[in-house]
Amino acid sequence: MQSFEVLKDLYWVGAVDWNIRDFHGYSVPKGTTYNAFLLMDEKVALFDTVKKPFKDTLIHNIRKVVEPQRIDYLIVNHVEMDHSGCVPEMVDLIRPEKLICSPMGKKALIQHYHREDWPYEVVETGRNIHLGRRSVQFIETRMLHWPDSMLSYVPEARLLISSDGFGQHWATSERFDDQVDLPELFHHAARYYANILLPYSPLVQKVLAKVKELGLAIDMIAPDHGLIWRSNVSKILDSYATWSLQKPKSKALLIYDTMWQSTEIMARSIAKGLMEEGVSVRILNLKTNHRSDIITEVLDAGALILGSPTLNNGILPTMADLLCYMKGLRPVNKIAAAFGSYGWSGEAVKVINDALKEMKFDVLEPGIRVHYAPTHDDLQRCLEFGRKIGKAVKERG
Ligand code: FEO
Repeated sequence: MQSFEVLKDLYWVGAVDWNIRDFHGYSVPKGTTYNAFLLMDEKVALFDTVKKPFKDTLIHNIRKVVEPQRIDYLIVNHVEMDHSGCVPEMVDLIRPEKLICSPMGKKALIQHYHREDWPYEVVETGRNIHLGRRSVQFIETRMLHWPDSMLSYVPEARLLISSDGFGQHWATSERFDDQVDLPELFHHAARYYANILLPYSPLVQKVLAKVKELGLAIDMIAPDHGLIWRSNVSKILDSYATWSLQKPKSKALLIYDTMWQSTEIMARSIAKGLMEEGVSVRILNLKTNHRSDIITEVLDAGALILGSPTLNNGILPTMADLLCYMKGLRPVNKIAAAFGSYGWSGEAVKVINDALKEMKFDVLEPGIRVHYAPTHDDLQRCLEFGRKIGKAVKERG
């Protein structure tokens, strides 16, 4: 994919990574892109770089537009290495007049690359720099999702260069939202939100309020990953407002792993009870559903019902993996419950309940356990348990 004029004088000079499948534990089955943008004006600005192995692609794409040495300002919106990985080489090549970053960005760049001698120009929220016919206004977005993160806004182009915000991990030959299948695009955007931004939802609300307060007119959002939003700007802004509220739907997830199918059979009976109450159900076996897909379903779920048999006085490792991942992403507004079969000691349900309570969900204790293999009466208990959870979900709706 070569450089591409996104708007007059604004070029996409990034890289498409068709092969990546894992992003620090988040599965990206359709790859990703590392978007970098070049704005040609009296001063030439490069917004972000790309992941280190794609350095030559970045340089090649820049050269299609301008010799790298013509770049005056290197703007680092975010220091995570999928965007800053080429900064050392690009500073050496470009010799920029200014390396523009947030206060935390300067700190993080020094901590990553140990170069105090770069021409840092630290910008805080509200600061403008003039390029000629255009200017860039900066908005710090600390902890969205790193302390150094910031947005760049070009008022004359009504353009928001949004760093990781509004991104999607999806490798495509297309560059704009209206060139791809829209439901799939929103699925990737929701997946990105759930796996990356979910713990910072209160901050997302603050940033959306700040954008409103500053009265930023936005015709285009250019994120550092995936497609550029030009035809669905208000729709993605509204989606972020909705996702950040985490308003639960009448939807329950039965997430489980199983040893000899007893816990699986229990899951199906609990699901039947939920369905009898009119709740939408997803049955998610941890052996066949990746944690990243499960957390995407968690985003708008009203109830999480987690099942594991007891193994060595604890839970199955797949369940431990999910609990660890979910705890870090801090979903809220959920009813939760535990279930599972056991042979002799039977600690799994308690272990899950404790983890769910630690995550501050409304846990329907004590959950439900079955000794070895479920009897007809056990399955009836599971069904009733499902109905009880279903009623609680509906009461909240
Ligand atoms: Fe795409 Fe936080 O890096």
